[in-house]
Amino acid sequence: MKILIATEKPFAAAAVSGMKEIARNAGHEVKLLEKYASPEKLIEAVADADALIVRSDKVTADVIAAAANLKIVVRAGAGYDNIDLEACNARKIVAMNTPGQNANAVAELAIAMMVFMSRNQFTPGTGSEIQGKKLGIQAYGNVGRLVAKKAIGMGMEVTAFDPYVPAGTMEADGVVPAASVEQMYRECNFISLHIPATPQTRKSVGYDLITLMPAGGCLLNTARKEIINEAELDKALTDRPDIKYITDIAADNQAELNEKFGKRVFATPKKMGAETAEANINAGLAAASQIVDFFATGNTRFQVNGF
Ligand code: 3PG
Repeated sequence: MKILIATEKPFAAAAVSGMKEIARNAGHEVKLLEKYASPEKLIEAVADADALIVRSDKVTADVIAAAANLKIVVRAGAGYDNIDLEACNARKIVAMNTPGQNANAVAELAIAMMVFMSRNQFTPGTGSEIQGKKLGIQAYGNVGRLVAKKAIGMGMEVTAFDPYVPAGTMEADGVVPAASVEQMYRECNFISLHIPATPQTRKSVGYDLITLMPAGGCLLNTARKEIINEAELDKALTDRPDIKYITDIAADNQAELNEKFGKRVFATPKKMGAETAEANINAGLAAASQIVDFFATGNTRFQVNGF
């Protein structure tokens, strides 16, 4: 089978060589498309692929239509909002993710973001400590749970809101379940977002929630820009000059936010949550192994679509 690894943002070299080895040892061919300049390059490259591995690369209906032989696409990472699942379903193409494999890297970044904002983006002057502060985690999945663990280790009080986790999960980790999302925003000095981008969550974090935060509150986004109502974020930052926002996915109006709010806002130049060698190796090798296993045994354990 032909496996295409298509990553506009390339994996670390060690991850790529490990992926090639896994695929080739199982008798598959590997083609690599990195740092490609336009979606057309992906459309060209996918023409003869039986399997596709991507990161945040957009697997649109056009990409699927161009991939006549495609049987499986694996998003080496957690969020699969970049894959057109309807188009996959229509062709009975299996779509998978690699849940948890890059979670630690993202969780470490969330902790770093809290310290960075508490120390005035590492500019001279008196900052504050995160020890003793209260952190609210919105969605207690693989990343949220690791953020909680690390934050507790740093002396923070941690609460989380997630209606989907079984009762007792948070308590077992020393995390207090929040009664409501509003209650969590009202109580917490920091809110860390870990919800996926879905039709239900798009633009769900806006003025009403953000302005519930106590004085000096800081909102952290290592999830997706789509979950933020950006116009309302702007209004919240305007009306509440004490509130801060740091994101790993620049807002569409980021230049305007930077201009208006200076050091109260920060966006990483390019999404870097999962940009560690370890996360690349974990997610990349998992993706390659899942494809090998799928072709060998039909294993669809991490399938995210249904048809
Ligand atoms: C994910 O959903 O796994 C993260 O957002 C990482 O995305 P990336 O692979 O594009 O860095």
